[in-house]
Amino acid sequence: MRSDNAAPILLKDYRQTPYIIDNVELDFRLHPTSTTVRTKLHMRRRDGIAAGTPLELDGDDLKLASVAMDDIPLDDEAYEATPEKLVIHSPEAEPFTLTIDTEINPSTNTQLMGLYVSSGTFCTQCEAEGFRRITYFYDRPDVLATYTTRITASKKAYPVLLGNGNLVESGDVPSTDQHYAVWHDPHPKPSYLFALVAGNLAHIDADYTTASGKAVKLSIFVEHGNETQADWAMDSLIRSMRWDEKVFGREYDLDVFNIVAISDFNMGAMENKGLNIFNDKYILADPDTASDGDYAGIETVVAHEYFHNWTGNRITCRDWFQLCLKEGLTVFRDQEFSSDERSRAVKRIADVQRLKAAQFPEDSGPLAHPVRPEQYKEINNFYTATIYEKGAELVRMIKILLGESGFRKGMDLYFKRHDGDAATIEDFLKSFEDATGKDLSGFSLWYAQAGTPTLTAQTSHDPSAQTFTLKLTQVTPPTPGQQDKKPVVMPVRFGLVGPKGKDMAFSNVEGATVEGDVIILDQAEQTVVFHGISEKPVASLLRGFSAPVNLRSDLTLEEQLFLMRHDIDSFNRWQSAQTVATRLLVARSQGESLPQEDAFIDAMGVIASDQTLDNAFRALALQLPSEADLAREIAENVDPEALALAHEGLRTAIGQRLYGCFRELYTALTPEDASFSPSAQAAGTRALRNRLLGYLAASGEAEGIHLVKAHFDAANNMTDRLAALTLFVHLDLPGKNEALDAFEARHKSNHLAMDKWFTVQATSPAASTLERVKELTEHAGFSWTNPNRVRSLVGAFCAGNQRRFNESDGSGYDYLAEVTLKIDPKNPQLAARILNAFRSWRALEPERQMKAKAALNSILASEQSLSTDTKDIAERCLQ
Ligand code: TRP
Ligand code: ZN
Repeated sequence: MRSDNAAPILLKDYRQTPYIIDNVELDFRLHPTSTTVRTKLHMRRRDGIAAGTPLELDGDDLKLASVAMDDIPLDDEAYEATPEKLVIHSPEAEPFTLTIDTEINPSTNTQLMGLYVSSGTFCTQCEAEGFRRITYFYDRPDVLATYTTRITASKKAYPVLLGNGNLVESGDVPSTDQHYAVWHDPHPKPSYLFALVAGNLAHIDADYTTASGKAVKLSIFVEHGNETQADWAMDSLIRSMRWDEKVFGREYDLDVFNIVAISDFNMGAMENKGLNIFNDKYILADPDTASDGDYAGIETVVAHEYFHNWTGNRITCRDWFQLCLKEGLTVFRDQEFSSDERSRAVKRIADVQRLKAAQFPEDSGPLAHPVRPEQYKEINNFYTATIYEKGAELVRMIKILLGESGFRKGMDLYFKRHDGDAATIEDFLKSFEDATGKDLSGFSLWYAQAGTPTLTAQTSHDPSAQTFTLKLTQVTPPTPGQQDKKPVVMPVRFGLVGPKGKDMAFSNVEGATVEGDVIILDQAEQTVVFHGISEKPVASLLRGFSAPVNLRSDLTLEEQLFLMRHDIDSFNRWQSAQTVATRLLVARSQGESLPQEDAFIDAMGVIASDQTLDNAFRALALQLPSEADLAREIAENVDPEALALAHEGLRTAIGQRLYGCFRELYTALTPEDASFSPSAQAAGTRALRNRLLGYLAASGEAEGIHLVKAHFDAANNMTDRLAALTLFVHLDLPGKNEALDAFEARHKSNHLAMDKWFTVQATSPAASTLERVKELTEHAGFSWTNPNRVRSLVGAFCAGNQRRFNESDGSGYDYLAEVTLKIDPKNPQLAARILNAFRSWRALEPERQMKAKAALNSILASEQSLSTDTKDIAERCLQ
């Protein structure tokens, strides 16, 4: 939390620090309410900097106990210390050692940044600017130093003491109840990667040998009793390490790799060097309490943090404007890992669903920003879907443009050239250019321009000339602070699908560069002509979602239905189903029902019964676009109530028309024995069976409703139990309360399982949902200080319940404003994150807009002093 009305920080103001910190010695004496930290900084002046230039270090909420230069205490006039800053007016000797003593109180640290206590365990979170809450430092990513950390604490209360790097020494402190450990990290790193943990924790271990034969001890630390719940995370870690060796040639580089699961955590996990710290949600799993989505999430996040060891840690960011350099690239890497471990097509669909649900709305609203921003007021607010998810899409496009081997050459050069650097996006792109000889200057605009481009396609066939013509137009819309956009380089993967459903061959093309099955667009408008095409094809465009754009094509519903049945590209089969469903649903929301509805439902039946498709794919293809998806497509004057009703209506129609077919498939998929596997295949079968159950229940048939109860009672895993519970609650089926009670009784001692119980209720379409959410904040299992609890109840309501959050009386908006103000003083990051639910308010119909705007204004008008985090989001939303 910094001062009010701070000026924005600008990319163009980047300057190196005048002094260099070569290495850091830290000495922690841990105590919950009074921890002392002695920091020794071994420093020197940078070449070209005048002697006596002031040394200005960052702090946040710090109390200085003493400061000494080369072991001699500094006179009062020689320095100035505030909670936010330590300035040494004129450091004379050099190189020099600066010794700083600070005192901090971890137990009152509710922001969960810096050193804090979670369920009795000391832990740290330093990205982005948390290290300055521990000691005064150049707390920025381009200051790389080696660290030695000594930790001293009560041996009985905190038997486990962990730091970055390798353990070099440990023992008891004679004639006290204390013990100590010394950790040394030989790899120079920025302060945001510093970490420390002390607690009474259990662990599971594994031995790993790297491709070149180096032995590594892997450990995962959890609360006592949770050991077996860490097995899947360990399995995921080992697979990630092998994969990075095989696919990117990257090996691990320390003797140990430690992971710690923590219950109070602002985000998913953190890649601290050699000591990853995780939200326990992304470590703990067993079949009874974790869903298939949780298993997949654990695999992804464990891989993500591990992959940061090279993309983030060995090569870090020069400044926070370059955040996507590590995040976009690392998301790309974790997506590729999961694609290789599971089904590539299914993973791609899931990733695009996420991109469209999280990033597209951000990019089309007041919070839009470039993948590499040029200014920010609060860096915590820039850990966004744009940086992460769109950032990953840009890396994916580079791979499409350069091809598999060109991409690998570029990555190899990047690792070779920049190992040990704090790098920029320019460095990254240059590695690809130099490795392949290709020019990426046109492509680089993607990093600078915010907004999702619209790609418009008009198709025409001329039988007499035997030509097929694709007229492609691209427009990137204006976004806050950016009016005129230029055309970008856009890879459009495509196929021309012939009348029998087979791709047609083509060779003679003019109007754009075509490499294999990819058209490379680089102008605002291009007309691509294919010669020698005698029969009219259906153009399957943007296969595999080869560019993060909104595609508007002139394909008829009949042509989309054709692709839904025949496209060899699974992604586009899924996309066509979504496109058709969207048009049907939008029509329904406007009171009309299109004649193609039955044909669409029948095509769904065909996909459901097609045994050649994998179950996970079928489950996705049978999923209707969400209410939020529809709102995004409509983009203006949105009435969430009408969308919800349209959605319900089509779902019921599908359930009724395909009841027999779905009923039979459901039974065929019912497992014969009670064994459980978290494998992608087993999860796919559960997903399909649960999807079918959803339609059977929505049909209104008495039998369908009975099935839900039987499904709930027979469930031997969380996925099935939760699917049935969701149907009970969201369809308001008889037996709903009994099911909720049974679930609660079974899981009341497991916070993570109870989070699901909160979410199911918070996302219910029932009119009483907001009242129920308020009631549940009084539940014994709820806590306003735990981010997972807040997100699963309040967050789920605001961001996951379109209909009730956007209630026409504005009650949802007022509640969000109230809750934001309640959380902000304790945990600004969490408050600001929840407040993001307002990001699409301008797309609503005018009445709701007015009410949302009033709620946002009420936050800014509040008497209470706001964090920079919350103020920044509220202000930008209103801009
Ligand atoms: N770097 C982390 C990741 O993406 C995320 C992260 C950034 C984070 N800031 C944080 C995690 C603050 C917890 C708290 O892997
Ligand atoms: Zn990351």
